[in-house]
Amino acid sequence: MAPGMKHYDAIILGAGAAGLMCAARAGQRGLRVAVLERAAKPGKKILISGGGRCNFTNLHAGPGNYLSANPHFAKSALARYTPADFIELVERHAIAWHEKTLGQLFCDGSAKAIVDMLIAECPDSVEVICDADVSAVVKDGETFAVSASGESYAAPALVIATGGPSIPRMGATGFAYDLARQFGLKVVEPRPALVPLTLGGEDVLFRELSGVSAPVRARAGAGSFDEAALFTHNGLSGPVILQVSSYWTPGSEVAVTFVPQEDAEWLVQMKRDRPRASVRAALREHLPDRLADALADRLGIERELGNVPDAALREAGARLAEWRFSPTGTEGFAKAEVTIGGISTGELSSRTMEAKRVPGLYAIGEAVDVTGWLGGYNFQWAWASGVACGESL
Ligand code: FDA
Repeated sequence: MAPGMKHYDAIILGAGAAGLMCAARAGQRGLRVAVLERAAKPGKKILISGGGRCNFTNLHAGPGNYLSANPHFAKSALARYTPADFIELVERHAIAWHEKTLGQLFCDGSAKAIVDMLIAECPDSVEVICDADVSAVVKDGETFAVSASGESYAAPALVIATGGPSIPRMGATGFAYDLARQFGLKVVEPRPALVPLTLGGEDVLFRELSGVSAPVRARAGAGSFDEAALFTHNGLSGPVILQVSSYWTPGSEVAVTFVPQEDAEWLVQMKRDRPRASVRAALREHLPDRLADALADRLGIERELGNVPDAALREAGARLAEWRFSPTGTEGFAKAEVTIGGISTGELSSRTMEAKRVPGLYAIGEAVDVTGWLGGYNFQWAWASGVACGESL
């Protein structure tokens, strides 16, 4: 080995959510661990997450809340480290938290408490080394040798925890994929997820509604969610659109149900109850005025309900229940909260996260082809995969 090379039991690349959790577990088992982080401080994405309060888990997190080429892969790690386990950790560190909505747990105070907690969980045998930009990794026999910012590190185990390329202005890159490919591991084509969608063509008229938000049901592919949609000057956003964006593929449609709490007969029923009312007025009872007016204009029914045939009202109800948008694309990695795709789960053991064909090489967190819904699910995967790996290094 080269002179000046520092030796460890394991080297973890990336001091993000998964890397820090993995380091803490491995360190607690007595391993000497180096965590190499390119940024000047650890956990940068944790610090900005959840609007600065970190939506650190979701009470309902289970395998069904994740997308992957192999939907079974995440089961083992998620079952062995659950939201209750992370809550226990947070409480042990006296971090106050609350449920915001839909099982989403946030810190009462700053997300920094989560980073501080993860660092505090690392015993003295763990060194978190910042400003260490990993440039090269080679495997020499059973040893991985890593070059980072002029220093050299060696260990028999190497963990890829460098995340995905979402939010490149924070320094995020596809480094994990390049490294995986270097060792012959397959990578599922990465694409932006939890990302706003752009509108063009006829849909472009909806961009006039920029700033308007309403609770809707949205569907794309196998994904269906009930949450708020937000019209933007580029197209569609808001939690429900971010959720379905993970299921949307270029060229396909997004179906939106306006007024999801009503059934297909609701306009006919309203005609019976209030024949003098208009479609516009009916919509205004459920939706912001600007959105109600835009939908009423497009439906083109201006008469009082009493003067509209039932069939036309049923047709309008059906259109409102299945309003089809054809997004032109997404706002890309620049705006994506996470990356879908990544290091193929087919290459990894679901128990240990070790590469089946490269002993000693592991991958965890967002770098792997496991992507959670919006709402704390992605951190839960980072914690669970980090623990699974940290316990088996
Ligand atoms: P993460 O990206 O956290 O860490 C990777 C680390 O590796 C980084 O510190 C990076 O600097 C380092 N690195 C990269 N290349 C390197 C190299 N070559 N050498 C050395 N180091 C390198 N999820 C959730 O569940 N709840 C939430 O509230 C939010 N909120 C949120 C907001 C925003 C704006 C974004 C962009 C994302 C979220 N997320 C989220 C998603 C969540 O942040 C994400 O899933 C996890 O941070 C993934 O954890 P990882 O440890 O895998 O990667």
